[in-house]
Amino acid sequence: MNCRQADIIIIGSGLAGLMVAEMLSPHKNVIVITKSSMKHSNSMMAQGGIAAAVDRDDNWSDHFFDTVVAGGFHNVEEVTKKLVKKGPILIDKLIELGVPFDKNEHGDFALGQEGAHGRRRILHSGGDATGKALVECLLKRVLKKVSIIEYEMAIDLILDDNGNCIGVNTRNTEGISFCNYANHTILATGGVGQLYPITSNDESVNGDGMAMAYRSGAELTDLEFIQFHPTMLAKDGMAYGLVSEAVRGEGAKLITGTGQRLMDDVHELKELAPRDIVAREIHRALERNEQLFLDITSIQDFETHFPTITSLCKSSSVDLVKGLIPIAPGAHFIMGGVCTDQYGQTTVPRLYAVGEVAHTGVHGANRLASNSLLEAIVFANEVAQNIMSKLDRPLFKKAIKVQKHRLNFELPTIEEIQHMMMTNVGIIRSQESLEKAVDWFSRYKDIVDHNHLLELKIEEKIICNMLTIGYLIATSALLRTESRGGHYRSDYPVTKPDQWYKKQIIRSLNRTEIKRADQECEQRKEGIVS
Ligand code: SIN
Repeated sequence: MNCRQADIIIIGSGLAGLMVAEMLSPHKNVIVITKSSMKHSNSMMAQGGIAAAVDRDDNWSDHFFDTVVAGGFHNVEEVTKKLVKKGPILIDKLIELGVPFDKNEHGDFALGQEGAHGRRRILHSGGDATGKALVECLLKRVLKKVSIIEYEMAIDLILDDNGNCIGVNTRNTEGISFCNYANHTILATGGVGQLYPITSNDESVNGDGMAMAYRSGAELTDLEFIQFHPTMLAKDGMAYGLVSEAVRGEGAKLITGTGQRLMDDVHELKELAPRDIVAREIHRALERNEQLFLDITSIQDFETHFPTITSLCKSSSVDLVKGLIPIAPGAHFIMGGVCTDQYGQTTVPRLYAVGEVAHTGVHGANRLASNSLLEAIVFANEVAQNIMSKLDRPLFKKAIKVQKHRLNFELPTIEEIQHMMMTNVGIIRSQESLEKAVDWFSRYKDIVDHNHLLELKIEEKIICNMLTIGYLIATSALLRTESRGGHYRSDYPVTKPDQWYKKQIIRSLNRTEIKRADQECEQRKEGIVS
């Protein structure tokens, strides 16, 4: 088999992977491997920006509070604090690297508002094209120092006899396989959006990294928490792309076909309530066969503020003069993933995970808007520092046995998997629907457990990974007998935030530097939380 060797192999070319590459490449030999083009990733498509407490009137504790309220108090406290505290430092780093964040006429950051944020806190670049600005800036830098191998899919991780990860097997679109050996292997493969028929995710994002980590014995957690973005541009059951929450932040209203405001009696934050609440309300209305629109008529200069969404509307024949964008919720983000510590280390030695594929615990049961690009940069920095602090040990390569394993049954289609997930493990689940899904996925249990099915074609491997992740999500959802954040069951009520935990989080903020925030939290908690 063809072999490559590097100090570091990064799988995935989104923001998290590129940021680690940027930070390690001056010191290490780094290879990035990506399944499609380096220009295709969820990061590249991210319209929303980066949340960070950079305004002089903002502080990390307010950002922390909004993050844990949106997260259903399921967040890992210490790591979440690291996220919000380090956010502004990493924003400075991005500026140093050349990211042009949007400014207002006074030369201050033009901060946007999004759902469940207590204030304007979102930095953008290029209006609604923040992800593109970030990825392009990093690619320009990284391409000078790092080899990026495109159109090559990671098949399975390679472990040595002591259980250390020593690289990854890949296969390119011509069917040629490679063994890629490295001292440190980093998963930056994104989430699972393509498991659902309507999704904001790039078509390459179908849970490969998580499935591969699972097969290597890594621990995964919280997979039942799936965030559905409330507003995908959708017509006749087809999705055409995301309509950023920033549009609601600028005043767009959710209305029914008869002009009624949807969120009026649902939540005091109305359109800017946490995403799970808005998405569920839209889902229920669509089930009642109502039509739903985002009314953007109150937004001045829509086309200037939102160039990406404007061209999306134009290409899908939505008349911007009427100002009504047809919408439906779509799978957007998975809060769970491959368990890591706060330095990105998974439970498999020398294997790291960063970005959406990782479960750092910062998102709890439901991610706060624009915290994902933030997570990518903050924990990319942690992974890079962590690896730099380690001594490189000699790498003992292991011969890879190509198993001549053949499937003795037919695989389902991607559409069948998506239908199974949306109908039974979607926005609203129940014991009955989840048992149905687990039962269906169990037919393919052999695939879930098998490693190194190297004989498979890439398209078949993708389906196997989707079956693995579908099975794991459905099983986790069945096991969680409560409703919380992105996991809503019609047979269990929403768990009220545990009073002790709530208190503990608020108490832990009680230092002089944030005394004001502490008092505010106390005042707000009953109103917002309970
Ligand atoms: C959006 O722009 O609405 C998406 C941003 C995010 O998911 O954080």
